[in-house]
Amino acid sequence: MSALEPVRVGLLGLGTVGGGVVNVLARNQHEIARRAGRGIAITHGAARENVFPGVDTRGITITQDPWDVVNDPDVGIIVELIGGYSPARELVLRAIEQGKHVVTANKALIARHGNELFAVARERGVMIAFEAAVAGGIPIIKALREGLAANRIEWAAGIINGTTNFILSEMRDKGRSFVDVLAEAQKLGYAEADPTFDIEGIDAAHKLTIIASIAFGIPLQFDKVYTEGIGAITGEDVAYAEALGYRIKHLGFTRRTDRGVELRVHPTLIAHRRLIANVDGVMNAVLVKGDAAGPTLYYGAGAGREPTASAVIADLVDVTRTLTANPGNRVPHLAFQPDRLSDIAVLPIDEVETAYYLRMRAADRPGVMAEVCQLLAAQGISIEAVVQKEPVDGAHEVTIIMLTHRVRESSMNAAIRGIEGLQSIDSKVHRIRLESMA
Ligand code: HSE
Repeated sequence: MSALEPVRVGLLGLGTVGGGVVNVLARNQHEIARRAGRGIAITHGAARENVFPGVDTRGITITQDPWDVVNDPDVGIIVELIGGYSPARELVLRAIEQGKHVVTANKALIARHGNELFAVARERGVMIAFEAAVAGGIPIIKALREGLAANRIEWAAGIINGTTNFILSEMRDKGRSFVDVLAEAQKLGYAEADPTFDIEGIDAAHKLTIIASIAFGIPLQFDKVYTEGIGAITGEDVAYAEALGYRIKHLGFTRRTDRGVELRVHPTLIAHRRLIANVDGVMNAVLVKGDAAGPTLYYGAGAGREPTASAVIADLVDVTRTLTANPGNRVPHLAFQPDRLSDIAVLPIDEVETAYYLRMRAADRPGVMAEVCQLLAAQGISIEAVVQKEPVDGAHEVTIIMLTHRVRESSMNAAIRGIEGLQSIDSKVHRIRLESMA
């Protein structure tokens, strides 16, 4: 083993993930040191409240003030596990200023402030590593940035929020209500501190922003992600989709097209024969299509104590290995050399092309279906399947479900406006996008 002293690490946050980092490092310290070339020691920790029970903090100087850790000259690497935008951004900037490397699990921070942080880190010659920010224990950053470096990435699709996947899975398998399952997800600790980040798709949008930048070599553009949550999905939609051979998944999707990059998070119908449609519960998966490797699928725990600690420690090993390397020879933060990032535009959602599932309530009388079909045809929308449910208990209305072929979103919007204006249509038209994943 190397005669080098262990690298000294300061942990900001000793909660669930921080406790996992301490425990996994202690348990696997010999294996990890054999990989890194020297030991990795957590010497300092900042914890606002009590340290997670079951964590052996002997040998760690603990303070309540994260600035003490960041400012300590004995610490060489800062692990930021506080989350959120502020003070995480300021703490990371201070660490960089002091020449410390940073490992973070903070997807919000990287998605929103990554461009700024990476520029400052480059100037100072330090690394910011963020494997744990996307899909927890799945090494998707490493796979995209290094393992697939030969490829022109065409698209990537991810189930990258465990909470929404858990909710949709429980609604489908057990017919449970949205509210009921969300309460359980919160109790189990899957959900973000503010669960609207999960439900409205913001958490997934943070992660998709990072995936897209690394896949295509574009700056991080969180504010351009089209984001739709799962709040409007009903048990009815879940059941109809199932009957038609599809699952509804809350998907982050990014694709490079001739007209720009698609960057969108929304509920999506996926044929149930696709592997990714069978990723259930809190599990995550990312499907990447490269021109040389073809489709590759990465599956695993997207959150949780030790899976996330696994990603954090992998980053610590990477940083430790490169401590003596010339900064110019390190793997670039966003995979592509910083002066070779592309300025390809992000496509507005109106210009995205996808297929659709439509659900509407219509008067049960002759000619209604023809009127709806005419409005779709006028926009060049071709129908793939139609299901009309018989009226329930003598009602004069029926539910119509349609699957369409691919069409530009602006054309679908125009058709939906027309359909909602029909006298015979008695509801909003519920639309869920549909992807073939081919
Ligand atoms: N709230 C997130 C999720 C945690 O449910 O996936 C991991 O980022």
